[in-house]
Amino acid sequence: MKHVFKYLKPYYLHMIFAWALMLTELAVELMLPFFLGKMIDQGIVTGDLDTIIYWGSIMVGLALLSFAAGIINSFYSAHVTFRFGYDIRQKLFEKVQAFSFKNLNEYPTSSLITRFTNDIRMIQNGIFMGLRIMLRAPLLVLGGVIMAFIVNWRIALIFLVTVPLLIGFLLLIVKKAGKLFGKVQERLDNVNRVMQENLSGIRLIKAFLRKKHETNRFMGANTELMKYTKTSLRLIETSMPVLLFVMNMSLLFILWYGNIEVGRGNAQVGDVAAIINYALRVSMAISMFGFLTMAIARMKASAERISNVLDAEIDLLEADDANDQYRVTDGAVEFSNVSFRYPSLKEDVLSELSFTVKPKEKIAIIGATGSGKTSLFQLIPRLYDVSEGTVYLDGHDVRQFKMDHLRRAIGFVPQAPLLFTGSIRENIRWGKNDATEAEIIQAAKDAQIHDTIADLPNGYDTKIGQKGVNLSGGQKQRVSIARALIRHPKILMLDDSTSALDLKTESRLLDAIHDYQCTTLIVTQKVTTAMSADRIFLMDDGELLDVGRHDELMKTSDLYRKIVESQFGKEGAHEL
Ligand SMILES: Nc1ncnc2c1ncn2[C@@H]1O[C@H](COP(=O)(O)OP(=O)(O)O)[C@@H](O)[C@H]1O
Ligand SMILES: [Mg+2]
Repeated sequence: MKHVFKYLKPYYLHMIFAWALMLTELAVELMLPFFLGKMIDQGIVTGDLDTIIYWGSIMVGLALLSFAAGIINSFYSAHVTFRFGYDIRQKLFEKVQAFSFKNLNEYPTSSLITRFTNDIRMIQNGIFMGLRIMLRAPLLVLGGVIMAFIVNWRIALIFLVTVPLLIGFLLLIVKKAGKLFGKVQERLDNVNRVMQENLSGIRLIKAFLRKKHETNRFMGANTELMKYTKTSLRLIETSMPVLLFVMNMSLLFILWYGNIEVGRGNAQVGDVAAIINYALRVSMAISMFGFLTMAIARMKASAERISNVLDAEIDLLEADDANDQYRVTDGAVEFSNVSFRYPSLKEDVLSELSFTVKPKEKIAIIGATGSGKTSLFQLIPRLYDVSEGTVYLDGHDVRQFKMDHLRRAIGFVPQAPLLFTGSIRENIRWGKNDATEAEIIQAAKDAQIHDTIADLPNGYDTKIGQKGVNLSGGQKQRVSIARALIRHPKILMLDDSTSALDLKTESRLLDAIHDYQCTTLIVTQKVTTAMSADRIFLMDDGELLDVGRHDELMKTSDLYRKIVESQFGKEGAHEL
């Protein structure tokens, strides 16, 4: 939690200023009833107009001062709150950018979104309250009681009963509420998660007629949220009437007992008026505690959740002894006894893989779904780290590279092409920030998508994603290939990225890639694609079953022959 509040540090001066102003407000608030008592006793009771005007103008002056202090305080409190929110959002964003795939598995998108929005707002709320009333409420209670004793200690004795009673009662409520608010936040996460899944899959849901099922699922999450919100708000609400009752009883008591004391000559009418005034202010301050503690409880729960993200250990850190001189220049890849297991799984998905790929070699990786092709890919740019063994690029352990130098040399086209909202040009340039127009067009041409783009009404300026055109699967694949090609990577990795292309387009694409002179690893399901490679890696169940050229594998590998036959029939397989 400390982690979160240290971001307030740059604003300490502002905060101190805000508190100073708050203390001014507080002082005025404590003085006013005192002067009111004086005005009543010295002016109103005796009918002395000059004295009334004298005390009256002092009180008006003080009220104006307090008013001004309040406004400036709000101004500074808001300033601190906004700046803090801005800073922490930025930090959180940077942290999430550094997240490894493992971290991302731990914090689903929905929960990160809740943290970015709702949780930060809760903390901001808490800070604003903190600057406006956090200190003021307890000080007002304390100061009010002291002033009441100064005015008339006999009548003020009632405070010794009511104040501890109210505070004790509130503490009880707060303790319960704190736990409840943590639960509310979790339920909010759930609602966001269901909603997010639903929104991203809304087309599929419609196609599968799952509307009812989804609506029920949402209703479940939403009901849970309502239930907990209701319980926690009810708790706060019930505290109000109790507070008012105790307050009213004590006012009645002050009037009754004050009257007796005035009769005995132990007190003046102004004393009673002043003490009633203090009693009102003190109970107001105590009820402010209610809101305040609610805000604090929420802030605490939210700060905890944000700290968790900020403190999350990133397992794929750059090694301390990473060598700044290491570069991937040739693109030689070596796996040495590599085993890999996802942190959430008990069994290896890759077991003891060993192979070498020469610079500029073209490798096709073929194998059933789930055989570990994507997992193997992820180890090269260190999206995950190996569990055992070593991955070498140009003879250096990938963990010894500076992350930047490692990933800059790799063009990675993931299995599910992901394009960002924006123009096609922006999406291609995403692979290389300083790419020129000519480079963008060249990359698009090589990825066999230039003609398609040129035919679009706005060409490269065509917007994709939300509110833009929807590209087909194959078109998306090619845009994301262009995005990888524009980097002129030393190692190009296509994870089944040509699955939606027809044979002709694909073969032109592979020819174009050939000119890039980079080591190329292509995951594919298609024998035709595999055939064009220098070597084929046949994967099965996390193991490298066979390696060789197409004609070699046809002779040596039963599994490979089966795959070929399944795609071309027994006859066709012979002709290949
Ligand atoms: N993020 C993940 N967490 C846990 N298990 C995973 C994850 N991704 C893939 N797997 C599992 O790892 C195995 C290999 O998957 P993958 O490498 O994606 O295979 P392929 O790309 O060959 O289809 C599968 O059994 C799959 O269920
Ligand atoms: Mg895969």
